Amino acid sequence: MSSGSPSSPSAGDGSTSPSNGNPVPRPREKIPGYIFGDVIGTGAYAKVRRCYSEKFKSNVAVKIVSKKSAPKDYLSKFLPREIQCIHKLRHKNIVRVLEILETERSMYIVMQEAEKGDLLDFINANHRKIAEKDAKIYFQQILEAVEHCHIKNVVHRDLKCENILFDKDMVIKLSDFGFARTINPENCQLKTHCGSLAYAAPEIVKGKDYDGRISDVWSLGVVLFAMVNGKLPFNDTSVKNLLTAINKGITFQSNVSEACRDIITAMLMTDTGRRAKIKDLLKHAWFDPDASSPYRSCSTPSPREMDVARDEKHFIKTPNPSPASTPRGTPEHQQPLVMNSDVSDSSTPGPYHTANESSGEFSGSDQMST
Ligand SMILES: Nc1ncnc2c1ncn2[C@@H]1O[C@H](COP(=O)(O)OP(=O)(O)O)[C@@H](O)[C@H]1O
Ligand SMILES: [Mg+2]
Repeated sequence: MSSGSPSSPSAGDGSTSPSNGNPVPRPREKIPGYIFGDVIGTGAYAKVRRCYSEKFKSNVAVKIVSKKSAPKDYLSKFLPREIQCIHKLRHKNIVRVLEILETERSMYIVMQEAEKGDLLDFINANHRKIAEKDAKIYFQQILEAVEHCHIKNVVHRDLKCENILFDKDMVIKLSDFGFARTINPENCQLKTHCGSLAYAAPEIVKGKDYDGRISDVWSLGVVLFAMVNGKLPFNDTSVKNLLTAINKGITFQSNVSEACRDIITAMLMTDTGRRAKIKDLLKHAWFDPDASSPYRSCSTPSPREMDVARDEKHFIKTPNPSPASTPRGTPEHQQPLVMNSDVSDSSTPGPYHTANESSGEFSGSDQMST
């Protein structure tokens, strides 16, 4: 990620025509009232540039989608949904969209800039470990952002460390609603399989219809696991191997507290009926330093259900963490946390269509079930 600042107006449009015979640089995007600066992020179909906005009198982040190069179904389906969803959301922990502009060539989503980058870079910059006391602060904000989405009947469907940003004061800003959609809260059975494979809930990986709110909770479990363990719980590039890894279960680093293990386990329940709800997660004892038992305010209210939850916790423990993303030749504590791509496994029957393997996004058919 680059850290430059917006260029001056003359340099910013990049369209100077030197008379010395040197090649003429390709003209950069140009919209009135904006001075374009460096690229601060690159996504599947978009480039994000830091710009100075004369109207807002500040730097902003502008997500630029080229109508020429982006796929048709992205432009006709996912981009309109992204715009519809972001209009419904206003929360202190969600990136604020300031305006949306369109030219013949491009769409421009003008956003508040999250100056401190994304959670993935933050984990890597902190030697792949965020102290639990800090993880609690960030994760509570992440939960509140996702809870707000669900209250507004929006499911995110691409929750991952790269889409969780920090502003200049290290306040969480959830971003990238490129796979989000609105839902009918009474009947939220979705069919599109999107997101990043390593963060995808097992019901999605298996190609079942799913409730996006419940599947978002699974991805949140993967995010928190990555924050406190410095690696992904399940990181495989094939659907078949990923499901095997999920069935084997997770292994925590030895220093992860019991309460933290419990809240992660509550999110990584393969049984969707028993997976924790966000409102219960926000009351979980991990957030309460005075709690006597980590199970006190977990999502499973009756003592009988709590026993079952504990049993499952033991059941899903496994001695072998997924090594898939670890580059060779570097001591483990120095290796970056690589958020892996999604590659559909042709040997596994299923609904996968890899929309863009290099970007880590995949999507399939998309309809609400009746
Ligand atoms: N508001 C923002 N402030 C700072 N960086 C941003 C902002 N929005 C996006 N980015 C950067 O650009 C990258 C790509 O943007 P994103 O919206 O996630 O696109 P995509 O849908 O293609 O993944 C992000 O991972 C992040 O690094
Ligand atoms: Mg993204």
